[in-house]
Amino acid sequence: MIEVMISGEQIKQRVKELGREITEYYKDKTDTLHAVCVLKGSIHFFSELVQNIDMNVEYSFIQVSSYSGVSSTGRIRVKSWIDEPIEGRYVIVVEDILDTGLTLSYILEYLKRYRPADLKVVTLLKKLGRTPQVTPDFVGFEIEDKFVIGYGLDYNEKYRNLPYIGWVKGDIK
Ligand code: PRP
Ligand code: MN
Ligand code: MG
Repeated sequence: MIEVMISGEQIKQRVKELGREITEYYKDKTDTLHAVCVLKGSIHFFSELVQNIDMNVEYSFIQVSSYSGVSSTGRIRVKSWIDEPIEGRYVIVVEDILDTGLTLSYILEYLKRYRPADLKVVTLLKKLGRTPQVTPDFVGFEIEDKFVIGYGLDYNEKYRNLPYIGWVKGDIK
């Protein structure tokens, strides 16, 4: 059984606020923000967030993954990578969830090499009780350490299209 942890309405509300926070942070620094969507999990969050940022937003899409079932394999697979020049630009990486931090630390390490003017991270979800090496600059929700699905997040590619964040009570299939 799937239990709702964060409803679609709550997500919408919080993403609106995040958009405002992000706009506020950048507005005196640059007129163009370069947002990097980390596929596949971030697809819905990215799409909602950029519409709530009140400035020019350029998009990049990268696809990296490391999970199998409910746990990290500890190895990052890069399926596609950034193609646009980001040197000297204001870059924000948009992630759906920060758990062990492996994915984001990998991405940040490589993006830094392109010498952006500024490199920040926004994550919709951050697990409580975890101490990843990466400190996100903007966080939507801090959540309990449960395996969550929906709003882009999957379990073996299933459940991404749920319009809310949920967790599975009992055995996950
Ligand atoms: C998930 C999630 C984050 C990452 C977080 O991606 O979307 O990208 O893991 O975990 P970490 O902090 O422990 O690295 P996943 O590997 O499942 O790929 P996906 O986005 O394509 O589902
Ligand atoms: Mn992901
Ligand atoms: Mg996944």
